[in-house]
Amino acid sequence: MAILRTNGGIAFDQANNMVENAIGTISYPLGIATNFKINGKNYLIPMVTEEPSVIAAASKGAKIARKHGGFTMDSDESYSIGQIQVVDVDVESAISKVSRSTDEIITLANSKSKTLSKMGKGAKEVTCKEINSELGKMLVVEMLIDVGDAMGANVTNTMCEGVAPLIEKITGGKVILRILSNYSTKRLVRGKAIFDKHELGGEDLVDNIIWAYEFAANDPYRAVTHNKGVMNGIIAVANSTGQDTRAIEAAAHAFASRNGKYTSLTRWKKDENGNLLGEIEVPMSVGIVGGIINIHPMIKTCMKILGIKSARELACVIAAVGLAQNFSAIKALASEGIQKGHMRLHAKNIAISAGIPQDKMDFVISRMVQEGNVSVTRAKEILELP
Ligand code: MEV
Repeated sequence: MAILRTNGGIAFDQANNMVENAIGTISYPLGIATNFKINGKNYLIPMVTEEPSVIAAASKGAKIARKHGGFTMDSDESYSIGQIQVVDVDVESAISKVSRSTDEIITLANSKSKTLSKMGKGAKEVTCKEINSELGKMLVVEMLIDVGDAMGANVTNTMCEGVAPLIEKITGGKVILRILSNYSTKRLVRGKAIFDKHELGGEDLVDNIIWAYEFAANDPYRAVTHNKGVMNGIIAVANSTGQDTRAIEAAAHAFASRNGKYTSLTRWKKDENGNLLGEIEVPMSVGIVGGIINIHPMIKTCMKILGIKSARELACVIAAVGLAQNFSAIKALASEGIQKGHMRLHAKNIAISAGIPQDKMDFVISRMVQEGNVSVTRAKEILELP
């Protein structure tokens, strides 16, 4: 509670140690999504977002999902992929040389992280691929690394840089890039939930939601917006738990295009009882140790509220929120639209800007929404009404 009351900040000195040319800090709203039951466990989920309605929408979706047991989620092991680019090389013979030296490469990579090695994690596999380019062929050596409960970018990069000289020696080629791939396809999370047809507003609405999904599934212009709704949930939890949100975004959108056409990250259909069944699958490269997670007081507090025990559990929670968020968005879009709900929140912000006193707030907001005229001028006029 004491940390929550500090207004969320880190001291300037901390900010100054984190980034270059620091001039201050900035804070965002932190709220709690309620009603979530994921793999039989109840969660209160901290979400950081600047967008009104997002937390309410996630909570509402989670409430409807509870009737049929909540969200059933499953995540892969935390496998990160490291890439080492080799040029000026006879790719075919280099591939067989690398294959013969896999054990040596893995041993060297693992010598770079005592922590992962001690836990029986670390580099596990080495594979090769040939890439054609305008400059000619290149070899890319990929290392699969079990990074445990970390997001794993640092350790992956360290291992890639660590084995690069050995790979040059083995292949006779020249290494250029040594870096993790954020396209974390070996770190997927997937899951589903059933949304009761009666609780969500009837079978007609179920049908309309499925039509809304089909729109996203078959049109990239709609799919981007549909997935933006999914990311409203995913990124808000990623923010509150100190994740690399850019890595999550980049991987999600690449994954949405994996079959050559950008499409929905979720799928919606009817189950055998006419209820709405929602599914999600998305790469989720997240950690519960390292980075700012063990440093930032607010993030530590959010982690405590969440009660997460592993990175894989966090991945499940984040994807479940993405699914709930998408459900609420397409449910609203397929029925009354989203502006009605937004309008009241927008009116509230306007009323605050107009300096409306707390005891007149509800009256002014309701009147502006009813009139469909939401502006600072109108808020002030309504306040003057007899
Ligand atoms: C707004 O932030 C998100 C939505 O546009 C998502 C969607 O259209 O599915 C409502």
